[in-house]
Amino acid sequence: MVSLGVRLSLFVTFKIIVAYNFPYESVQLTDDDVANNSDIKFGQLPGDIKAECKTFPGDSNWPTLDRWNAFNSSLGGALLKAIPPAAACYSGIYENTTKCAAWRQQSRSSLFVREDPLIPFNQWTLGNPCPVPGASPPSSNTTIPPLSACHIEYFPAYVVIVSTVKQVQLAVNFARNHNIRLTIKNTGHDYLGRNTGGGALQVYVHHLKDFQYLPSVQIGKYEGKAARVGVALEQYELFPHMEENNITLLAPGSSTVGAYGGYMQGGGFSYISSKFGLMADQVLALELVTADGRFVHADVEENEDLFFAIRGGGPSNYGIVTSAIVKAHDSISVARMNFNFQTGVNFEQANIAEWVDNTTAYAEATNETFWNGINAYFAHLVRINDAKGIGWNSLSTQAPNPIFNRTERIFSFTGQVIMPGMSANDFSDFVAPIVQDLHDVGIDIKATVGWWPTYPSYSFRPNGPGEAVGNGRFASRLFPRSIFEDPSSPEFFKAMAAIRIWVEEGHYSFHSVDYHPSYATAGYPGADSAVNPHLRNAIMHATGFDTGSYGPERTAEEMIASHARLNAYAQKWRDATPGSGAYMNEADTEEPGFQESFYGSNYNRLLGIKKVRDPWDVFYAVTGVGSDEWRVEGTDGLPTQQGRLCRRLR
Ligand SMILES: Cc1cc2nc3c(=O)[nH]c(=O)nc-3n(C[C@H](O)[C@H](O)[C@H](O)COP(=O)(O)OP(=O)(O)OC[C@H]3O[C@@H](n4cnc5c(N)ncnc54)[C@H](O)[C@@H]3O)c2cc1C
Ligand SMILES: *[C@@H]1O[C@H](CO)[C@@H](O)[C@H](O)[C@H]1NC(C)=O
Ligand SMILES: *[C@@H]1O[C@H](CO)[C@@H](O)[C@H](O)[C@H]1NC(C)=O
Ligand SMILES: *[C@@H]1O[C@H](CO)[C@@H](O)[C@H](O)[C@H]1NC(C)=O
Ligand SMILES: *[C@@H]1O[C@H](CO)[C@@H](O)[C@H](O)[C@H]1NC(C)=O
Ligand SMILES: *[C@@H]1O[C@H](CO)[C@@H](O)[C@H](O)[C@H]1NC(C)=O
Ligand SMILES: *[C@@H]1O[C@H](CO)[C@@H](O)[C@H](O)[C@H]1NC(C)=O
Ligand SMILES: *[C@@H]1O[C@H](CO)[C@@H](O)[C@H](O)[C@H]1NC(C)=O
Ligand SMILES: *[C@@H]1O[C@H](CO)[C@@H](O)[C@H](O)[C@H]1NC(C)=O
Repeated sequence: MVSLGVRLSLFVTFKIIVAYNFPYESVQLTDDDVANNSDIKFGQLPGDIKAECKTFPGDSNWPTLDRWNAFNSSLGGALLKAIPPAAACYSGIYENTTKCAAWRQQSRSSLFVREDPLIPFNQWTLGNPCPVPGASPPSSNTTIPPLSACHIEYFPAYVVIVSTVKQVQLAVNFARNHNIRLTIKNTGHDYLGRNTGGGALQVYVHHLKDFQYLPSVQIGKYEGKAARVGVALEQYELFPHMEENNITLLAPGSSTVGAYGGYMQGGGFSYISSKFGLMADQVLALELVTADGRFVHADVEENEDLFFAIRGGGPSNYGIVTSAIVKAHDSISVARMNFNFQTGVNFEQANIAEWVDNTTAYAEATNETFWNGINAYFAHLVRINDAKGIGWNSLSTQAPNPIFNRTERIFSFTGQVIMPGMSANDFSDFVAPIVQDLHDVGIDIKATVGWWPTYPSYSFRPNGPGEAVGNGRFASRLFPRSIFEDPSSPEFFKAMAAIRIWVEEGHYSFHSVDYHPSYATAGYPGADSAVNPHLRNAIMHATGFDTGSYGPERTAEEMIASHARLNAYAQKWRDATPGSGAYMNEADTEEPGFQESFYGSNYNRLLGIKKVRDPWDVFYAVTGVGSDEWRVEGTDGLPTQQGRLCRRLR
């Protein structure tokens, strides 16, 4: 058993021990580096900047080119005046037809968007500032002209591509000293717009990807396996490390989602979360740069307030994390059952293939049996979660299709039960009652059951196939476990009715991941963290995307109306789940009462930490703790981030 002393240590001066996980953290900003340079000096708590607005490009106090150049020198040349790739499609100095043609092909792939230091996935969050021609609505016609102007000024103004902690510190100091908005991009996946902002200095952390397995550590009261992880590691990059060391690490569900950026800092659920908890629950120690520009360590004994807040208390709000030490678990098997049923099986199969995965045969159901089947399946959620498994499903609908002479709407359900740590035989026995109960309501599913010896063998897709980049808006709700405890209760039927009306009348797709990361599962030190208490009580994380576009072809009025409709149906979920909340990482940017919904009873404590640690408001993220004291100018009534960030006047 080795203690924390194994962390690489460097004696700087006298008795100060600066500890860190990786070599990129050994390069730090010193008081000597700063000397008398007021651009990059460290902040002194309790802080002083209280200007009404952040300084915006073009303002008289925006740093001169000379200051930016000097800043760039101190960064070793890591400052970029980033240009969105789609600018190549517009006439002007950035026009380049070759580049534009290439970008048209790539703009909807996460593999390319994550590598761009500037752009977020969801460009509606910046007011669709520089639309790729022919992308929205999608078209294969390559001669379609741009739909609107390319507003480069809606994006962050500069990006620091960091490869050392020193560069992170310089960026934080420069932004704070000049009162410039600061944004952080890791993979760019964020759905809410927390990763971008107009006129900001952006910190691009995507290259901080080191990894080291620690077979045995003692940190606080934790003794066991762990790993040092660079903050930018993505899901798919964790699996080879798991295989090599015969361990399990928690990981997101999709391949290019960052494991320790926004995902961890907002909670972070996984296929194995009913067994091991959330990603925030895995964290034993953190290294980060705080708002004053200092590089600090945080764990249960040191900077406990930051350690509490960053684990689940919202990303991009208390510091820029550079690495962590996380729990490692024994290698574990994964079993999964897939099943599908739908109405209208005999209608156009080929057409259905475009919108559902029909690798498994669909069992036919009439309208009422279909919804009875939904209820019968969800009645098993408590049993699935108590066995440490999770449910995953997608419930979709398709309008009548005159081409196929079809006059009725089709409803389709595709479900999975995912169970870590159960033998194939035990799992077959475990799912038998689900198959039986569906049979009893009249649905004979043709379930397929698979078993994988390890989590990597279940999930790993080499190099990350990437996900399609969307541009839509979310609604979500955490349905409490208590609702599912008695499937004959009025509470259960009300919840089922709220899901049904979402699809049947709203015509939205429903998707839920049904996991239960209880306090007991979170264990030590996870149970004492800022993770939303509503997540601890939940068993279903229900989500729905707006089927309407939020792309550049829609007016602000249309988008506002589209969102209002979505929210009216989401309200039915809220009404069926009184006292619960939503999971902040997959939620509506305009979630009503986000403070209670995303943070629950932790909100006031987190606000206190925010005020003490970041009195300058260096960090801001929409829906973050304290963000309600700010507003973005010039957004046409939309919750977008392209304009100047100002304090709300009281
Ligand atoms: C295809 C897809 C699949 C998903 N699957 C899951 C899933 O299985 N489980 C789940 O829980 N969520 C899932 N999510 C949601 C995911 O948790 C969020 O999108 C999350 O914000 C992604 O974090 P990121 O760091 O990769 O992205 P980014 O957009 O780069 O960052 C997200 C937020 O974190 C901040 N941030 C990033 N790095 C740092 C840092 N080093 N220090 C401080 N702040 C930082 C950013 O400023 C921003 O506020 C999924 C999202 C997508 C698009
Ligand atoms: C900083 O400024 C002070 C006062 O002007 C001066 O005495 C000192 O030499 C300066 N230090 C450096 C490193 O330039
Ligand atoms: C920063 O310096 C590097 C190296 O000299 C240069 O390539 C880059 O263009 C500079 N960035 C800006 C914004 O001037
Ligand atoms: C246009 O873009 C291509 C591909 O990115 C690049 O190779 C080429 O040099 C660019 N042309 C000009 C004139 O900048
Ligand atoms: C492609 O778009 C251009 C411009 O809108 C239009 O003139 C042309 O007819 C379109 N081509 C096809 C094949 O639709
Ligand atoms: C991997 O770990 C599992 C679970 O701890 C153990 O049963 C197995 O023997 C290990 N395999 C190897 C190759 O060490
Ligand atoms: C689904 O079924 C249709 C019709 O049988 C078939 O053409 C299609 O290839 C199938 N899709 C998949 C993904 O198997
Ligand atoms: C739809 O109905 C018409 C008229 O009965 C028939 O001619 C046509 O073949 C049908 N189309 C399909 C796809 O079944
Ligand atoms: C099934 O429901 C759909 C959509 O609500 C409706 O159009 C259809 O008429 C119903 N079919 C039957 C047989 O009730």
